[in-house]
Amino acid sequence: MPEVLTEAAIVDSLRSVQDPELRQSIVDLHMVRGVHVNADHVDVDVALTVAGCPLHQRIESDIKEALGRVEGVEAVNVKLSVMNDEERRQAFQAAFRLREATPAAAPPPPAAARPRERVEIPVIPRTAPGPALLQPSTPTAIIGVMSGKGGVGKSTVTANLAAAIARLGHRTGLMDIDVYGFSQGRLFGVRGEPRVNEDEKIVPWESHGVRLVSMGMFVPEDQAVVWRGPMLGKMMQQFFSDVAWGELDFLLMDLPPGTGDLALDVAQKVHHASLVLVTTPQAVATHVAARAANVAQRAGQTILGVVENMSFVRCPHGDRLEIFGHGGGEELARSLKVPLLGQVPLEAAVREGADGGRPIVLSDPDSEAAGVFLNIANRLIAARAS
Ligand SMILES: Nc1ncnc2c1ncn2[C@@H]1O[C@H](COP(=O)(O)OP(=O)(O)OP(=O)(O)O)[C@@H](O)[C@H]1O
Ligand SMILES: [Mg+2]
Repeated sequence: MPEVLTEAAIVDSLRSVQDPELRQSIVDLHMVRGVHVNADHVDVDVALTVAGCPLHQRIESDIKEALGRVEGVEAVNVKLSVMNDEERRQAFQAAFRLREATPAAAPPPPAAARPRERVEIPVIPRTAPGPALLQPSTPTAIIGVMSGKGGVGKSTVTANLAAAIARLGHRTGLMDIDVYGFSQGRLFGVRGEPRVNEDEKIVPWESHGVRLVSMGMFVPEDQAVVWRGPMLGKMMQQFFSDVAWGELDFLLMDLPPGTGDLALDVAQKVHHASLVLVTTPQAVATHVAARAANVAQRAGQTILGVVENMSFVRCPHGDRLEIFGHGGGEELARSLKVPLLGQVPLEAAVREGADGGRPIVLSDPDSEAAGVFLNIANRLIAARAS
């Protein structure tokens, strides 16, 4: 090999290789752990963000291709390992910072608040034979976020996962159909009546890169409306067919909390939706969530996993204070035979981010809670890719 072939030159060439999910250079994401130039070949150690990352073959072949172009490199040996939780958190945070530095198109400013009287959803003529998103062949991963009980942080979790997935470069929509409390407009800092485009489709709000459609577009948040099953089903159908979603990689749904008919309604209308279950560590919350999940599982839906929210408060000395109990999320995940996707700490900044219209993954990406949300977002991205 020529003398000029240095490890620094190899690392430089690896800058052109991107992680296919995070869409940033593997060097900037700290995935390159080591480079060694030997007499007849180059060794490259790379740490993947998740075990069994379905895209590892692509990373490996991209590395070989990039280094194949470097003069003097004859053979490349790629060794793959897996990051631990802390390393993964740092990789995501690096990805976030890189995206902050080169932001996509700035979201439009929120529309001015206007008093609204109307409570019915406009009836819009159908132009397509059937909504593409409802076809099982849709490339969009549709993920319903559900909980057994209200108030466990389902909307907060949904908002943060949507914002994180969008920031990681995926086209993301959020459908807020929690009829008991549609709060996504507030969590994303948007309001105002929806616009209808030339095809007579509802144009989603857009905030933090997320296309958002909410009941709150049609009904003020403080107006108590109780929608019964058939009404909800109709509305959801309209949100699929009459909204100009454009192309989406992910569509998250903030579902109403509940144990029975609502979950089944979703299962029937969107067979191919998979679900994420949110609970607190409290036994009572997990029992109700388990009932909701059983209904969904019986209907043949995939449950991607459990998010335990408000799991603990991190004390100044680093201890975990488990004010809402312990182990509920883990037990629920075990009973359903699904993974525990993450344990989100109770942090004032989570609520402040929500109240300020900027989910914590964006307002404070270095916080522990944001790290957990980012980790979960990546697992959902990996699940879609597999
Ligand atoms: N990890 C957290 N740390 C601090 N506050 C949180 C956390 N998760 C949620 N909250 C706060 O708890 C409250 C309830 O959360 P949220 O509205 O997301 O719950 P929900 O399950 O959607 O409730 P609902 O059933 O009313 O729709 C909100 O004020 C939210 O900001
Ligand atoms: Mg909610």
